[in-house]
Amino acid sequence: MSMGAVSDAELFAAAEAVRARAYAPYSRFAVGAAILADDGRVYAGCNIENAAYPIGNCAEASAIAAMIAGGGRRIRRLYVTGPGRAPVTPCGGCRQRIREFADQDVVVISHGVEGSPLSQTVAELLPHSFGPEYLPR
Ligand code: THU
Repeated sequence: MSMGAVSDAELFAAAEAVRARAYAPYSRFAVGAAILADDGRVYAGCNIENAAYPIGNCAEASAIAAMIAGGGRRIRRLYVTGPGRAPVTPCGGCRQRIREFADQDVVVISHGVEGSPLSQTVAELLPHSFGPEYLPR
């Protein structure tokens, strides 16, 4: 079960809807991500590739950008969908991006749509991680 009024089924649906808009002509691996944010809203993003391969954006980064642009500040739950049976788990860089905006116990659900979803906490995805509280301000 999810927290609050937005169900995991709704997050899955939002991730799948935005996944259909992925721009992934090179990998042909379309990914969608849906964030339930601290404002109670759902922010979605897809991967956006580029002919200059390394500058492509992951779905998780796109969803975080949508959250910040839309007025959300913190990730309360995150659902990631992609092709195949294996859970589509965030890449290393996106684990750090998620960590910036989520508490350690926030759940990330990774779902290869032909298979079963996998739930992991931010702490499990990126143990002993560095974050904003390490920096003086
Ligand atoms: N990708 C994501 O957008 N999120 C993930 O969690 C895994 C990988 C994208 C990056 C690239 O556009 C394609 O999937 C293949 O790696």
